[in-house]
Amino acid sequence: MAATLIINIKQLVNVREQWPVLRGKELANLPCIHNAYLLIEDDTIVAYGPMDELATAHRALAADPIDATGKMVLPAWCDSHTHLVFAASRENEFIDKLKGLSYAEIAARGGGILNSARKLNEASEDELFNLAWARLEELTKLGTGAIEIKSGYGLTVEGELKMLRVIKKLRERSNVTIKATFLGAHTYPVEYKENHEGYIDLIIQEMLPVIGREQLADYIDVFCETGFFSPEETALICKAGMQYGLKPKIHANQLNLSGGVQTGVALGAVSVDHLETMDEPSIKALAGADTIGTLLPTAAFFLRMPFQPARALIDAGCAIALASDFNPGSSPSGNMNGVVNMSCIQMKMLPEEAINAATLNGAWAMECADELGSISVGKKASLILTKQVPSLAYIPYSFGSNLIERVMIEGQWV
Ligand code: NIG
Ligand code: FE
Repeated sequence: MAATLIINIKQLVNVREQWPVLRGKELANLPCIHNAYLLIEDDTIVAYGPMDELATAHRALAADPIDATGKMVLPAWCDSHTHLVFAASRENEFIDKLKGLSYAEIAARGGGILNSARKLNEASEDELFNLAWARLEELTKLGTGAIEIKSGYGLTVEGELKMLRVIKKLRERSNVTIKATFLGAHTYPVEYKENHEGYIDLIIQEMLPVIGREQLADYIDVFCETGFFSPEETALICKAGMQYGLKPKIHANQLNLSGGVQTGVALGAVSVDHLETMDEPSIKALAGADTIGTLLPTAAFFLRMPFQPARALIDAGCAIALASDFNPGSSPSGNMNGVVNMSCIQMKMLPEEAINAATLNGAWAMECADELGSISVGKKASLILTKQVPSLAYIPYSFGSNLIERVMIEGQWV
């Protein structure tokens, strides 16, 4: 048995004996132990507490403790919304946007998601795996210990299955916790532009049965948006997915008041994600539901959209998570440290709220909170050890610096 003991931790962050999903005011409560120790055996957290309670028995277990004087330990980030598998970046569209085109205009010209779909269908499964693997490795160094990954750049039976098989392989080979989401309903492929029913049939009749049989996904997602999938189409597709045990986690209220939040809530979705465009009824619907609202501030930033109304959502009592939306079109960064910084700087989340939303609530938004998202005995030892920092608030405040010294994923230093 391999034991790791970390001692003299300036602040051990998000320490919990119970770990319910956090709503409203609870998000500001981030339990910490000052001057702490943490003991890990194999891949699991087995003990923690203040230094003056460190038992000699614990000390004896690890011959060479790690001295974390001046440093903090946090649970690894739980990034519950990404599109990590893609064939190519889209910086040409970025330039088009700088020159004045909008996201919707680029999409209408066959750019955007359709551009990614063309390239994805040309790429081999091995190529896609290697690209995604490299991205995942970079993200683990930035502190991500759990990640949800969507399909949705295939838009053909073969393409969607290829993406999901790549995600499955990532899951088999990585010790990062990975959840897979089927997003066949990301947009309509060109051939089905005037035949929405035909594409929805393809999803329901051809894609879902294979996904169900081969257990290729945990969740079903739909881009519920004006010009993409309507609330009715979203419900139809999600209900078909639910027959195969896939739970809904949907793209809602990104560009318009599309009714996506209410649709997700009515379906009992695990989360509704994006939420740039919210009104009173959608905030109320979310506040009264178990569904988590996942905010993706780097997507709002990159598309120069209004940021998600985090304060209004928290004040209304919603359960809020933060995620990166890593994808080549609207958020070409999966850096959760940046997401946390931005949520404080632009959405006025408190550092405590942001850290809770990016760890424990992120874990709930992909249903791995029993293993990750807090420092708790029995949970996986997936952690961030910071460099020396003066305080917790320094982490989002010092937005341009990499404050991570080391990352541990399931007991192993990255
Ligand atoms: O979450 N909004 C829909 N899907 C992605 C963007 C996809 C793309 O542009 O490639 C998102 O922002
Ligand atoms: Fe997304």
